[in-house]
Amino acid sequence: MTDKKASLHIEGHENVDFPIYEGTVGPDVIDVRSLTGKGFFTYDPGFVSTAACESKITYIDGNQGILLHRGYPIDQLASESDYLETCYLLLNGELPNKEQKEEFVETIRYHTMVHDQINNLFSGFRRDAHPMAIMCGVVGALSAFYHDTLDISDERHREIAAMRLIAKIPTLAAMSYKYSIGQPFIYPDNELDYSANFLHMMFGTPCEKSKISPVLAKAMDRIFLLHADHEQNASTSTVRLTGSTGANPYACIAAGIAALWGPSHGGANEAVLEMLEEIGDESRIDEFVNKAKDKSDPFRLMGFGHRVYKNFDPRAKVMKETADEVLKELGLEDDPLLKIAKRLEQIALEDPYFVEKKLYPNVDFYSGIILKALGIPTSMFTVIFAVGRTVGWISHWNEMISGDYRIGRPRQLYTGSPKRDFVKVEDR
Ligand code: CMC
Repeated sequence: MTDKKASLHIEGHENVDFPIYEGTVGPDVIDVRSLTGKGFFTYDPGFVSTAACESKITYIDGNQGILLHRGYPIDQLASESDYLETCYLLLNGELPNKEQKEEFVETIRYHTMVHDQINNLFSGFRRDAHPMAIMCGVVGALSAFYHDTLDISDERHREIAAMRLIAKIPTLAAMSYKYSIGQPFIYPDNELDYSANFLHMMFGTPCEKSKISPVLAKAMDRIFLLHADHEQNASTSTVRLTGSTGANPYACIAAGIAALWGPSHGGANEAVLEMLEEIGDESRIDEFVNKAKDKSDPFRLMGFGHRVYKNFDPRAKVMKETADEVLKELGLEDDPLLKIAKRLEQIALEDPYFVEKKLYPNVDFYSGIILKALGIPTSMFTVIFAVGRTVGWISHWNEMISGDYRIGRPRQLYTGSPKRDFVKVEDR
């Protein structure tokens, strides 16, 4: 709290004073909680100006394009750290020492297998079900399998649930893919590290031992890392809101997965690739840019724009470098989609419409190109976002449950009919 106060003058009413809080960095916030006692609500659809919680996990400065996890810049984590170390950091607040890191990695490694009965859940889905549809159902169903850790008031239960979720989500993700192509599920191989193991479960078969390139496994790991957390975005806020009711962590993460699915959020990586394929040739880029600028056309350039970033998304910069590395490793430097993507980015960054609205490439713009090069089908892109983001969701859920929290319950500006009397059907 600071000594500063905000004062609100409402015509015909007494002035109302509000305390102002100062974060470590970032804008001050005005505590408007007392306003309801004066007979008013604030109105902020889309929560553009509303801080819904206090958090110590992730900080974004959207104007400068800065993203910090527990204070560490994302580009440093992407080049110096790895996904599981970043998970430890997000969950615990500090980087692990050597022993702590080894212990954490081992714990995750030995929780990768899922209850065998879960295999049966899959056979209830159609083979052509979208893997995100399967993930919403199967992750929520984990609460039916791990009753032993559902006491959310018990810190140890919360910790075990977090480990289980981080460890088992890649297994479920790979199973949802295998199911869709009619191949047998591949058990995790705990000799492999987290990301190589995921690729093994995706691409291995019982007949052939999978060969995982270290460069590609590293690229996969970086994709998970770059998606690990992003402050109070739509899916994380969904997890917090769901968790505020006291729901169990598996149900909360399933809610987060559902929120992530939409094309304005995690579903954009799938949409970017579909868009690049639809453009198909550099000669058609202008046509699509013009469509995106046309107010009468609902089309948007997927992978551009962000609610918070009004500058380059720092994750997109790392993603672009990774795309170059991966395509070089695979000898695909001349990939036509990469060429279209680079040209589109250049045009959009120079076009007054995109410049004035500060629409820069976001994390999803290059991730699809990398995933495609890794052989991941488009329908799995958002699932991969969900795998990486699970740690962010569970860290925010745990932070909320460990502190003081109330059930989330927004209010509304009601514009429907005032009270009126019921009319019998024969009189209508
Ligand atoms: N193409 C064309 N115009 C756009 C785009 C775009 N991609 N994004 C925003 N605009 C325009 C929009 O029409 C509006 O114009 P005007 O002020 O004239 O009405 C203005 O820019 C502001 O847009 P908004 O929809 O009010 O902004 P928002 O903060 O509500 O939405 C967004 C942010 C990410 C949903 C939006 O930029 C978008 O739809 N982008 C494409 C989808 C996408 O790439 N999503 C991934 C987000 S990053 C991954 C994640 O964290 O989930």
